[in-house]
Amino acid sequence: MTIRFDGQVAIVTGAGNGLGRSHALALAARGARVLVNDLGGATDGSGGSLSSAEQVVEEIRAAGGEALVNGANVADNNEVEAMVQQALDAWGRVDILINNAGILRDSTFSKGSLDDFWKVVDVHLKGTVNCTKAVWDVMREQGYGRIILTASASGLYGNFGQSNYGTAKAAMIGLMNVLHLEGARNNIRVNILAPTAATRMTEGLIPEPVLPLLAPEAITPGVLYMVSEEAPSRVIMGAGAGVFAVSRMYESEGLFLPEQERTPEVIAERFAEISDSTGQHELKEASQQTMRFVQKAATALGVALPKS
Ligand code: NAI
Repeated sequence: MTIRFDGQVAIVTGAGNGLGRSHALALAARGARVLVNDLGGATDGSGGSLSSAEQVVEEIRAAGGEALVNGANVADNNEVEAMVQQALDAWGRVDILINNAGILRDSTFSKGSLDDFWKVVDVHLKGTVNCTKAVWDVMREQGYGRIILTASASGLYGNFGQSNYGTAKAAMIGLMNVLHLEGARNNIRVNILAPTAATRMTEGLIPEPVLPLLAPEAITPGVLYMVSEEAPSRVIMGAGAGVFAVSRMYESEGLFLPEQERTPEVIAERFAEISDSTGQHELKEASQQTMRFVQKAATALGVALPKS
């Protein structure tokens, strides 16, 4: 099986540098027409210039591919709608959206300003929602769409000094879970990338000998799989240094407490049983939690439930 994107149109946000650049070049090398978006600011989101995105477009064209440059700020919905229109005017469809644009304003929760907090959330979360919303109906009507949301280990597992970033990145999970369900009937698949790479965003944080291992190009093949026709959906793929892994969320089996035992003291005493991971469950939608709890309680109480 060879994965190709001939005839397909991809939008990659923040594609002037780092991971987005690598994704855009690889998609184009496999036949996609790529809209290369980048505001071109500094890592903290200040400033702006089209030059990095233009360079990526030139590289794609020099290799015989088709690409367009776009300087939209993903946090600005008018600019995002114009960006999607630009792709539609040129190529008539959008098959792939890679939400990748991002900034950092690290600081402890105590020292950081609310302005910085919301600025980071705006670029990552509002930016991703804006872009996804702008392509959603296009993909529904086409009966085809592949969307990547870029999260981070910071959102999945926590990272000191990144409350703003971690909040925005964890929100990708909620967005993916719901869009996976809503997009399924129109063949729209939504997945998350949680990368770790040496880019300007991580400059100074990674020791010199490790840098070559963490090239963005070591991650992009995982993204290409997740936007291919054979893509899975609702996968959180961690990737870096050529390693690809999947993260999942589980709920413990849980413990039913009869009414007279439902006190915070009993919960404290029995917390080890409540959180025991033996026989844990991976749930596919919210209602499964309600059903599971109701069934568990009914069994414990000997109550017969109506057959659904
Ligand atoms: P990067 O700084 O090299 O690339 C991010 C790009 O997004 C830049 O070219 C920037 O100009 C662009 N951008 C920023 N704000 C924008 C906006 N409002 N509108 C349009 N473009 C905008 O960083 P890198 O490392 O390539 O990051 C790409 C994505 O991967 C980000 O979402 C980042 O949070 C995520 N990520 C990166 C990790 C890493 O280890 N490098 C780890 C976890 C997540």
